[in-house]
Amino acid sequence: MIFLGIETSCDETSLAIYCTNKGILAAKTASQADIHSRFGGVVPEVASRNHILKLESLFNECLSISGLGTSDIDCIGVTNAPGLIGALFVGVGFAKGLGYSLGIPVIPINHLSAHILAAEIEHEELKPPYLALIISGGHTHIYDVDKALNYRLLAKTLDDAAGESFDKVAKMIGLGYPGGPAIEKLAKDGDSDAVKLPIAMKKDDNFSFSGLKTAVLNAYNTGEYSKADLAASFQKTTAETLVLKTMRIARRFGRKRITVAGGVACNGYIRNSFAEACSEGEKVYFPSFRLCTDNGDMIAYAASRFYNRRRFFPLEGRAYDTQPEIG
Ligand code: KG4
Ligand code: ZN
Repeated sequence: MIFLGIETSCDETSLAIYCTNKGILAAKTASQADIHSRFGGVVPEVASRNHILKLESLFNECLSISGLGTSDIDCIGVTNAPGLIGALFVGVGFAKGLGYSLGIPVIPINHLSAHILAAEIEHEELKPPYLALIISGGHTHIYDVDKALNYRLLAKTLDDAAGESFDKVAKMIGLGYPGGPAIEKLAKDGDSDAVKLPIAMKKDDNFSFSGLKTAVLNAYNTGEYSKADLAASFQKTTAETLVLKTMRIARRFGRKRITVAGGVACNGYIRNSFAEACSEGEKVYFPSFRLCTDNGDMIAYAASRFYNRRRFFPLEGRAYDTQPEIG
């Protein structure tokens, strides 16, 4: 079967075509990062308008790359939650219009379940049970996936998400948006032990990053530390926090396979920290960089996995209609 995936939950317009026999046939993403960077963060209304401008041309490009026609598409998957409501509306409206005109079903896809499934696209051996850590701009969630497509939320952030804290710390020390890549780059020139920063709620499974952010701000305000040292120390403490809590839960649940997904999973330091934390028999799976950040591939693939549940979008269905499969 051929699935079209549409992702517009934040500032990437991303479409992909997935074939259940041949894998990803085409993928195109238009990032709005440059447009939003001058505002220091994503402006929701600007994001919605730019999705409208890009969707149709990206769809046509995916068709020509894959050599397919519209009539070859069997089903459409579209991100319907969570995300910026206006941005979601654009993707959902496009998907429902296309689905209706082609007479094919549209599946509402939860963005988080798609991030989790992204690692499966490239790692065939990654089968449940496994533990999934999502670290993105909006989420820091740990799920237990005991069987296929069954997600149990075990821990989450009580305040900022990991990506959000990268973005806010970057803004604080005068780096651009998005902050994650900028912090990672600058941290290479810094001493990660220079600034002593706290791991919040060490004994709790849930995360909290707002105290860490304030600690970086306080250290910055002393004027005693270079920006590179602040970036390196912040990145190290974030990595330690993520590894400590994720591996502790994995061991408690006896999970040997762990997947780490979402934009922050692009971070090389965090990837290495997880790899080093694995003991005998444990393995951490990361999607490739392109599949960590928001992408249509994971939405198309998720649609193929959820297809048999036959929970299709009714024509009157709206973005953000809740989905029971993920909390
Ligand atoms: O998954 P994603 O593309 O969008 C959301 O669903 O939120 O994640 C975006 C987040 C941003 O906060 C960005 O700063 C962060 O991922 N990010 C990184 C890196 N690349 C992107 N954080 C740390 N290091 C990176 N290399
Ligand atoms: Zn995302």
